[in-house]
Amino acid sequence: MSGSSPSRARSLARALLASGGLLALAACAATPGDPNALAASDLDARVAATVAQLTLEEKIGLLHGPMALSFGPTPAPLPEGAIPGAGYIPGVPRLGIPALRETDAGIGVTNPGGVRPGDGATSLPSGLAVAATWSPEIARAGGAMIGREAADKGFNVLLAGPANLVREPRNGRNFEYPGEDPLLGGTIAGAAIRGTQEQGVISTTKHYALNSQETGRQILSANIEEAAFRESDLLLFEIAIEIGDPGSVMCAYNQINGQYACENAFTLNEVLKGDWGYRGWVMSDWGAVHSTVDAAMNGLDQQSGEQLDAEPYFSTLLLDAVRAGEVPESRIDDMAGRILRSMFRMGLDDGPPTPRPSDYEAHAAVTQAAAEQAIVLLKNDRGLLPLPASTASIAVIGGQADKGVLSGGGSSQVWPVGGPAAMAVMEYPGLPAAFGNRVFHPGAPLDAIRETFPSAVVGFHDGADVRAAAAAAAEADVAIVFALQWATEFVDVPGGLTLQNEQDALIAAVAAANPNTVVVLETGGPVLMPWLDETPAVLEAWYSGTRGAQAIAGVLSGAVNPSGRLPVTFPASLEQLPFPVLPGSDLPPGPGGATPFFEIDYVEGADVGYRWYETRGHEPLFAFGHGLSYTTFEYGDLEIDDGRTLAVSFDLTNTGDRAGAEVAQLYVRPPQPGEARRLAGFAKVALEPGETRRVTLTADRRLLAQFDVDANAWRVDAGGYEVAVGRSAIATELEGSAEMRAESFAP
Ligand code: BGC
Repeated sequence: MSGSSPSRARSLARALLASGGLLALAACAATPGDPNALAASDLDARVAATVAQLTLEEKIGLLHGPMALSFGPTPAPLPEGAIPGAGYIPGVPRLGIPALRETDAGIGVTNPGGVRPGDGATSLPSGLAVAATWSPEIARAGGAMIGREAADKGFNVLLAGPANLVREPRNGRNFEYPGEDPLLGGTIAGAAIRGTQEQGVISTTKHYALNSQETGRQILSANIEEAAFRESDLLLFEIAIEIGDPGSVMCAYNQINGQYACENAFTLNEVLKGDWGYRGWVMSDWGAVHSTVDAAMNGLDQQSGEQLDAEPYFSTLLLDAVRAGEVPESRIDDMAGRILRSMFRMGLDDGPPTPRPSDYEAHAAVTQAAAEQAIVLLKNDRGLLPLPASTASIAVIGGQADKGVLSGGGSSQVWPVGGPAAMAVMEYPGLPAAFGNRVFHPGAPLDAIRETFPSAVVGFHDGADVRAAAAAAAEADVAIVFALQWATEFVDVPGGLTLQNEQDALIAAVAAANPNTVVVLETGGPVLMPWLDETPAVLEAWYSGTRGAQAIAGVLSGAVNPSGRLPVTFPASLEQLPFPVLPGSDLPPGPGGATPFFEIDYVEGADVGYRWYETRGHEPLFAFGHGLSYTTFEYGDLEIDDGRTLAVSFDLTNTGDRAGAEVAQLYVRPPQPGEARRLAGFAKVALEPGETRRVTLTADRRLLAQFDVDANAWRVDAGGYEVAVGRSAIATELEGSAEMRAESFAP
């Protein structure tokens, strides 16, 4: 744990986040990430000149590489110059082309299996938590911080920017992703990518696209109609790429409409490189390549983690294919040129980053600020929270709150500086042993609560014995129960949305024993809450990163006024989901005991998350966008400026007696029958007590439009659009209508 005190960390964070965000961090970086550093035409000329000097073998050398780990029955040594981690692509020293040294991932720099002994890193809160801040500034500061740490460790590519739309609340990787809405998710993912690249480190965005669940990710086809695809998952990526301009896009494991994502002509050639004009390169996910000619001709530029694929598709086989005339050399030039373009744009050829110690204290402040803004106050009856400083006794129960805060597993798992606070080996079918560690980051919420309430008697009960825990709760003024849901890459959430290991019974018993019970959830995503009616206060703390404990204590005490809002809907029951049973989970095993190939038809189309709940008339447990504050806000004086574009203005006032931030959300409903409301704009607005601000939200026009497949264009139809400004997808404060003119525009 960093040695900085909570208040020092907070003021550092404020300093870092003041005046447009991470200027302080950005200033200490070199300027290579400045996308304007080299004019596009100069860049193109340099790329072309460099490609012209490369031999065919050298070009192909840039198009594939191994996972930078030695494994398997006869482990090959790592290539010279590789840093152990996720991936390595050798450079061409004679032309000053650097090697790509790649590390995971979006929450922080990883250290898989401890291959770099003792090399810890700062962990941000989960990607979903960062989305819950609804703050592009926080996302950008986080992206910059992890980019800085990647460079400090000598890496020049961060496999970050996870941007899958959360369609399936049981997906084991939802904690990495930015939620169920294309605008929110794209804005947050894009800002994070931008922050990383401002540090002179290439970021990816991934996993393109429709990698919506882990169950069967390599043996399923995710099927969706084009218009719905464009308006949902693709729109999220489109916005993220627009804002972040990542050097590379990582294609996914699954098939999309019957064609593997890493050889999908529609998503790669037509949409990404065609319609969106993407100039960077497409790298495969690790073990996601299935062909040479199809993959090369349909848009894949580089095979990553090649030991995991069945064949050397992009090395010897690609060379053979070029020699046989099956892949033209001009395509090889394009592939290599795309990689060089991103390298030069980001200044990677200025030399490898000089390894140096990271400023973990400053970085702790960045992650703490993110965690503080991410925590969502879901429920707060009787104003139970914040707990007064005079609280005499607190019973902290469960969730290993005496040790640390939970983190998510898989390739994005960060090994914290100084090592985990606790670790358990989890065993589930389908979960590789090396990724089965359930890691708790330091510090312990119990310690942070003790520091925050120095005059209270703070006891701890591990919750294993429910009756004893309830008895301990009964004797305290306040009981705080911590509940955990562990999620990891490779498998969907064990137990679905039900808290495992009798935690529901524990919460119910504690709440029955003490009317002042607060539940703190540390989950990857939504969970069911059968005890909700009997529990006055609930905080969603997500996986809160390496300063999560301090952030949680800050919210409990009121030092931090909660401002997180849900980036996903919390369902009231599994029956409300488009798929009450997780697709693929009920398939009988095929020959050899393996799950057979299967298809998922995404029947909800673009009506993902809150849109699905609205069109089906379901009342969720907690709506998308929901989150309470310790102060109150009032909205008034709505003005709508409509026509070709749509902007709404309104007054927002903090009517309470403490400073706080409100997330104002603009929803629009197009005039076509059966359309759901869509989030079209949002702003997080910090207000002092009594302060009023005039806020203007401009709708992203794509959120007013339908995608017209025949015209290959977005189409805004003429007519009356319902406008709602509010505090969640269902809590409307101001309503009006807008008259829009018909208009089409290119994707
Ligand atoms: C994951 C990617 C990751 C890659 C390299 C894959 O299993 O899906 O997100 O970047 O491994 O570790």
